[in-house]
Amino acid sequence: MKRSRTSKSWMNEHVKDSYVKQAQSDGYRSRAAYKLIEANEKFKFLSKNMVVVDLGSSPGSWSQATEKIVGSQGKIFALDIIEMQPIKNVSFIQGDFREEYVLHALENKLGDLKVDLVISDMAPNISGIKTKDQAGIIHLNELALDFSRNWMKPNGNLLVKSFVGEQYETFIDAARKVFNKVVTFKPKSSRDRSSEIFIVGQKLKNME
Ligand SMILES: C[S@@+](CC[C@H](N)C(=O)[O-])C[C@H]1O[C@@H](n2cnc3c(N)ncnc32)[C@H](O)[C@@H]1O
Repeated sequence: MKRSRTSKSWMNEHVKDSYVKQAQSDGYRSRAAYKLIEANEKFKFLSKNMVVVDLGSSPGSWSQATEKIVGSQGKIFALDIIEMQPIKNVSFIQGDFREEYVLHALENKLGDLKVDLVISDMAPNISGIKTKDQAGIIHLNELALDFSRNWMKPNGNLLVKSFVGEQYETFIDAARKVFNKVVTFKPKSSRDRSSEIFIVGQKLKNME
């Protein structure tokens, strides 16, 4: 099949992209690893022995980068609709996080454990219909926030990917009710033309 001009230019950009090359040489499954690494350099939310939940984890570069920091005494629970090849010290659930039974499967795995950090790189498959895609990511953002509210240790942190658009400010306001501080972050490794933005919720409020 003849390649379209868009897919050719995407391929050219991908091959030239220094983060793609770096990921290959550092052994990461995706260039996305550097978004988490940059965020952690700035906000320092990851440390040894932590319990981390990685939502939308496949192919697994965030889990790989997290594992390097939390180490073998830490615990990582990763979840994605699509399969993820195993990573040492990472417990994986395959399922759609919007489904109640998938949430319960994660909750069952956690048992008595409370979470230090929730990272969510979940994004819906882009349909090109802006309002639909925006509503899709905001829904995933809200689910990650709800999960954090219910499962995080006081002072825990959240890193969640969103898109700037409708309901984005409303989501930030909702996050401000749950965390002491909420800031946004656009990593250098995030492509300029992308409307993606990361929201960092710092220090879960103690609701008791
Ligand atoms: C940008 S990728 C994540 C890359 C990953 N952070 C890494 O470093 O390898 C987004 C992922 O979100 C997943 N995803 C999207 N919607 C989801 C949902 N409702 N439940 C679970 N995973 C979802 C997709 O399957 C996809 O693998």
